[in-house]
Amino acid sequence: MAKDSELRDEILALKEERDAVILAHNYQIDAVQDIADFVGDSLELARAAAAQKAPVIVFCGVDFMAETAAILSPEKTVLLPAAGACCPMAEMVTAGELAVLQEQYPDAAVVAYVNTTAEVKAESDICCTSANAVKVVESLSEQQVIMVPDRNLAGYVARFTTKEILPWDGFCLVHERFTRKDIQTARSRHPGAEVLVHPECRPEVIDAADQVFSTSGMIRHICGSQNEEFIIGTETGILHQISLKCPEKHCYPLSSRAICVNMKKTDLEKVHAALDRMAPRVLVPERIAIPARRAIDRMLALP
Ligand code: 13P
Ligand code: SF4
Repeated sequence: MAKDSELRDEILALKEERDAVILAHNYQIDAVQDIADFVGDSLELARAAAAQKAPVIVFCGVDFMAETAAILSPEKTVLLPAAGACCPMAEMVTAGELAVLQEQYPDAAVVAYVNTTAEVKAESDICCTSANAVKVVESLSEQQVIMVPDRNLAGYVARFTTKEILPWDGFCLVHERFTRKDIQTARSRHPGAEVLVHPECRPEVIDAADQVFSTSGMIRHICGSQNEEFIIGTETGILHQISLKCPEKHCYPLSSRAICVNMKKTDLEKVHAALDRMAPRVLVPERIAIPARRAIDRMLALP
């Protein structure tokens, strides 16, 4: 097995040969973040995928993110190095289940979190991410809004709108585990630290935190803040980007157990193998990709 430095060199050479770009989510392992051309949150990655000129995108993340890239750029080859990397929350609602809910609420708009399958996006009016969910909901003319699949993100949005939010009952296994007690314990260990959490956290955790951000929103906030210490209520992979972008800050995970196993399935070996074999490739059938793209484009068109 080649050493990390050799593997990195081989990946860079293959990347050039294939004219590929490597995109990675903030939760990826450090070595994968370090080899990527761009590291970001779901919204930034969707925008980066849409803007790429390179014919090959290696998507280091989970399947819905790579699917979004493939939907936005059907002419490109989108590779997901870890074939089985999925988001369990995205699997918590199916297009059939959404259709039943739509029959119950025919006047409601449907907002699909990007953490959904392409089939669910295809049945939705617009997508959102954790970075723009309130803005997306406020952009709609409908008074009733179905939000799938994350009940916590839906509950968070409901705090900022007069619209009636109809949440699906999904959740993220990683963020759902944070408790109010975790925040109390972390605050007692680091009394001066500001507590930042992701909107996928439970309502009582959001209530006990100081601020709520998407992953890249957290990084921007930390880098621009006067504060020096932060408690980070999201997946621990983000700590690497924070240490690169603002090394002078002190950040502590709200829980060191906050690890998304699917985000950790990608490693340098798999990135190398993907570029070498040009597989596994993510393909979304046109009949799903076209309506799904309408929902993603509508989100990306918002300022
Ligand atoms: P972000 O869009 O904030 O990066 O979140 C994605 C995600 O999967 C959170 O669990
Ligand atoms: Fe899905 Fe949660 Fe992992 Fe994000 S952290 S990819 S929402 S399981």
